[in-house]
Amino acid sequence: MLHLDYNIADLKGKTILVTGGASGFGAAFSTRWASAGAQVIIGDINPAGETIVAQIRSDTSNNNVHFIHLDVTSWTSQVNFFRQAIQLSPHGGIDAVVANAGINNAAESRYFESPTIDYLNHPSPPPPSLKTVDVNLTGVLYTVHLAEWFLPRNPGSQPCTDTTTSSPRDRHILLIGSIASVHPLISQSFYTITKHAILGLFRCLRVTAPLSAGIRVNIICPYYTDIGLMSGPARVILAGVPIGQAEDVVDAATYLMANRACSGQSLVTGPRLKLGLPDGGYLTREGNEETGVWEIQLHDVETTDVFTDRMVKMVKTVIAARGWVGWARGMVGAMVWPVVRYWRNLL
Ligand SMILES: NC(=O)c1ccc[n+]([C@@H]2O[C@H](COP(=O)([O-])OP(=O)(O)OC[C@H]3O[C@@H](n4cnc5c(N)ncnc54)[C@H](O)[C@@H]3O)[C@@H](O)[C@H]2O)c1
Repeated sequence: MLHLDYNIADLKGKTILVTGGASGFGAAFSTRWASAGAQVIIGDINPAGETIVAQIRSDTSNNNVHFIHLDVTSWTSQVNFFRQAIQLSPHGGIDAVVANAGINNAAESRYFESPTIDYLNHPSPPPPSLKTVDVNLTGVLYTVHLAEWFLPRNPGSQPCTDTTTSSPRDRHILLIGSIASVHPLISQSFYTITKHAILGLFRCLRVTAPLSAGIRVNIICPYYTDIGLMSGPARVILAGVPIGQAEDVVDAATYLMANRACSGQSLVTGPRLKLGLPDGGYLTREGNEETGVWEIQLHDVETTDVFTDRMVKMVKTVIAARGWVGWARGMVGAMVWPVVRYWRNLL
C-alpha cells in the first residue's frame, strides 16, 4: 500500500530547477515547493515565466524564485540555464532537477501518419516536423545529462546511497512521463513514443544513477489531468470521463522530492478511484480512501527478473552436476578453440 509520507520542511533550502515551469504542473510544483522555503529556478521558453515568478514570490513571500529563459531543444540554452542557476543558488549548487517541459502537437502525428506532400514529384520535399520529439525527448536528454554533471558537484549535498546522514540535501532527478508512457495514445504517436522513451530512460537511470553519481531518480506518469496540456479538444474527447486532479500530481511530486528514501520509484496519477491492481488489493491511502496516486510496479521487469533468476539457478545446477570433470572439459575446449577456428577457416 502506498503512503505519501513526507515532511514538507525537508524542502527548505533546496535548490530545485524546473523546466517548463511557466505554466501547468511546473508552475504548480514551483508554487508548492517555494511555499516550503525551497529555492526554485524556472526555465521556460514562454516569457510569461516572469509573471509566474512574480506571482509565486508574492503568494509565498519567498524571493528565491527565479525565471531564466530556456529552450530545452537548444543545447546552448540548457547549458546557460544550469550555469545561471548556479549563480542564483544561495549555496552555489543544484539539489534537484525536474525535467517537466513537454508538448503534445497532435497535428504533427496526424501529418506523419497521413502525409500530404507529393514525395515523388515535389522538387525538394521538407522532412516531417518532429518538434514533439525535440522537446519531449532531446530536451529531456539534454536536461538529464547536465543534471548528471551538476548534481554531484553540489557543495553540501549527500549521495543518496549515504544512509548515515540525516541531511535533506541530496541529489534528485524527477522525470515527468505520462499515462502515454505505459499505454499508447492512439493517433498521438509522437507523444506516445517520447513518453515511452522517458520511461525507458527511467528504467536505466534508476539503477545506474544512484551508483555512479549518488543521484536518485523517480518518475510520475500522470493520466489526463485538469491542467496545462488538457486542451479544449482533449476535454471534448474526454467529456464525461473522470480526469485527474492537479493537486494529486503535486502531492506525488512533493512526496518524491521531499522524501529522500524515494529512489527508483514510479507513480501513476489519475482520477480518484478505488483501483484493484494485480497484487489483489486496493492501493489506497490511510483508511481505504479513494486515491489519485498509485505506484506502478513495472510487472514486465519483474517477469524478466524472475526469468533471469530461474535461468541463473538452472545454470548453477548444471555446473554443480558436471563438477570438476565438466570444468576440465570446458578448459580443454577453450584452449583448443583457436586451433579449431583456424582449421574451420581453412575448410
Ligand atoms: N496535463 C496533463 O494532462 C498531462 C498528463 C500527462 C503528462 N503531462 C506532462 O506534464 C508536463 C507538463 O505539462 P503541462 O500539462 O503542465 O503543460 P503546460 O503546457 O502547461 O506546460 C508545459 C511547459 O513547457 C514549456 N515548454 C514547451 N516547449 C518548451 C521548450 N522548447 N523549452 C522550454 N520550455 C518549453 C511550455 O512553455 C509550458 O510552460 C509535460 O511533460 C506533459 O507531457 C501532462
